[in-house]
Amino acid sequence: MRTVLVTGASRGIGRAIAHELGTDSHILVGSTSEEAAAKVVESLPSAEPFVADLKDPKALARAVEGVDKLDAVVHSAGVLERTSVAEASWQQWSSSFELNVFAIAELTRLVLPKLRATTGTVVTINSGSGLHSGAGQAIYAGTKFALRAFTDALRAEEKGAIRVTSVHPGRVDTDMQRQLRASEGIAAEDYDGHRWARPESIARAVRLALDMPADACVDSVRVNPSGL
Ligand SMILES: NC(=O)c1ccc[n+]([C@@H]2O[C@H](COP(=O)([O-])OP(=O)(O)OC[C@H]3O[C@@H](n4cnc5c(N)ncnc54)[C@H](OP(=O)(O)O)[C@@H]3O)[C@@H](O)[C@H]2O)c1
Repeated sequence: MRTVLVTGASRGIGRAIAHELGTDSHILVGSTSEEAAAKVVESLPSAEPFVADLKDPKALARAVEGVDKLDAVVHSAGVLERTSVAEASWQQWSSSFELNVFAIAELTRLVLPKLRATTGTVVTINSGSGLHSGAGQAIYAGTKFALRAFTDALRAEEKGAIRVTSVHPGRVDTDMQRQLRASEGIAAEDYDGHRWARPESIARAVRLALDMPADACVDSVRVNPSGL
């Protein structure tokens, strides 16, 4: 059975990916919280927790020590920071880059030997904001542009050894979307989640990448709300 590590699997897109892949894979359920990870583990046929604050390199290294075989890692954990360049603090910049970029680079580096051993796959949950930026998006889009640079480099460096897929969702109905809509002035009671793609649909794109025959790689895929 394929073993897949999914970060940010406690909620939102990551949890939907864990459920989608969990039908035929052993899932390492990534979360900062033992309780949240345990809840998802219990809901899956074959799973175990992978608990670490990904911004803590020591905790990350400890968690990876417990990983034996690995066929894929799906980097879904991420944070949204929405502020203008004029108001952005050093702490806001560094905190976002630590989780959305540095942690992904470090976790990938740590598991790379295991992925090479299985001719495995790295999937990053990037964003439409990894392709275009705008007002209020310097930090978040900045991290996602950097993530795209990372995946393009990794794919070229590891060609023939592993596959690398960058998934670019548009708006998805998760806690992060609630946070985004609040920052756009939408009151909590007026939240319009039905307008956005469902986390399960993003998970389908991840399955496409992992189930692709060995001769081909899904380099990148965009998944946007259809409006239907
Ligand atoms: N929602 C959207 O509209 C949208 C659109 C495009 C791209 N994306 C991207 O999709 C990914 C998932 O987003 P989402 O909407 O599912 O977000 P979400 O519902 O806010 O969930 C965020 C996840 O990240 C984890 N996380 C946060 N800080 C962490 C840390 N320091 N260490 C380990 N895990 C941490 C959380 O784990 P805990 O529960 O343990 O805190 C949680 O599982 C992100 O990379 C996001 O940028 C989202």
